[in-house]
Amino acid sequence: MPHPLTRIICQYLDSPVETLANHKPLIDEMCAILCNITGMDLNPTVMSERNTATAKGNAVSPVVAGRCAWEILRSQVFIRGVYAAIRERLDSPDRDADSTPLNILYAGTGPFGLLIVPLLPLLSAKEVQITLLDIHDRSLTLLNKLIDELDVRDRIAAIHCTDILKWPAPVAHYDLVVSETMTAMLKAEPQVAIFAHLVSALKPSGSLIPEQIQVNASLLAAGTFDEQSAIPLGRMFSLDRQTALAIASGDERCFSAQLVILEHPAHYTDLQFTTEIVVYGDHRLTRGQCSLTMPFTRHKVRLEIGSTLESRYVLNDRPDFEIRYKVTNAVNYDTPADSSDCSMFGIPHAKRLWQKVQLLKLNRLDPGIVQSEQDLDLQCYRALGLQYPDDLAELFSKDSLSDFESWVMTRNQSLTNHSAVS
Ligand SMILES: C[S@@+](CC[C@H](N)C(=O)[O-])C[C@H]1O[C@@H](n2cnc3c(N)ncnc32)[C@H](O)[C@@H]1O
Repeated sequence: MPHPLTRIICQYLDSPVETLANHKPLIDEMCAILCNITGMDLNPTVMSERNTATAKGNAVSPVVAGRCAWEILRSQVFIRGVYAAIRERLDSPDRDADSTPLNILYAGTGPFGLLIVPLLPLLSAKEVQITLLDIHDRSLTLLNKLIDELDVRDRIAAIHCTDILKWPAPVAHYDLVVSETMTAMLKAEPQVAIFAHLVSALKPSGSLIPEQIQVNASLLAAGTFDEQSAIPLGRMFSLDRQTALAIASGDERCFSAQLVILEHPAHYTDLQFTTEIVVYGDHRLTRGQCSLTMPFTRHKVRLEIGSTLESRYVLNDRPDFEIRYKVTNAVNYDTPADSSDCSMFGIPHAKRLWQKVQLLKLNRLDPGIVQSEQDLDLQCYRALGLQYPDDLAELFSKDSLSDFESWVMTRNQSLTNHSAVS
């Protein structure tokens, strides 16, 4: 009879990927079993344990680390990815009965060693030997109980209570280095420094898990969360084997990125930063699937077209991105120009009309203004040489001031552009 925990892990491994999100009952059952075995209380009345500050980010406390198990997709996708990486190597035609076990380093186990230890009943001591590291002695004490309960101690090569960043890693020794020491946008926790420190411990054929963590920027239509219509701006940083090696050698160019802000519709005012995780191969966590991939959005930013967004990942005791960008002052959307403003084509109200259309598209125009200015708007259409209502749809389709002005000038060739600063 397999251990109840092993039965749950097998369900994670055997389920189609699209059903993983339905596994809350299984995750709850798993957490209850893990707490029962280790004596961990994930809901203590007093949070007496603190995170431990390291030189390159926080090592979260045993309770906080234990709570990571609650995350439905994070936990399953990582466990499935780790198992896939192990199986791929064990099932390789290059491997035979005399092959030595795979050496696996698990850096930052928490109290449950969740990403590997519950998998060990499915593997033998001849197949895998695991080294476990964590800075918190209590986490390792609890983890030892789980190792005994699952009767998998012969698969454990070593357990060290240490700051990983100070641990003397053996060179080219491990087939896999596994660590989940991150938050969204690689903020606050030491994932980047840990991979930079441990990458030389990988064999040439080895893999970091996760294989890649990308932080990207995009533009979103005001107030929306629709990924399909997001406009990608580009990659701010990718943590993978190559960049970890570069960082380890002191080459930190990968921390900096310059993203050119290309032409985009005026209502794309929100700037979003997303985190995507390739755990292993097709085992991935995308935007919003777990806390590690929660997007950060800065609303109503309005980046200036043609400017450059500059970002730099700063790896200190509180890692984070420094991000600089230029916002447009071409159109003040919140306070449309006065009707008497003639700076557009020398026509009163024209600038206000254009700005009101942009506000309408953002759903931010006071309905009272729409009603009370109907006559003024109609007079202005006429003065611009536009037909009402035939030209309305085209007017609304213009997202940039330059498009709008060019279009109006094609309709009314007697107009010249007076707009010095719009
Ligand atoms: C986010 S938790 C993840 C726990 C577990 N691996 C999981 O995925 O459920 C990160 C763990 O890494 C440990 N950790 C973070 N930085 C560390 C460091 N520099 N040295 C040792 N342990 C560290 C923390 O103590 C914590 O247990």
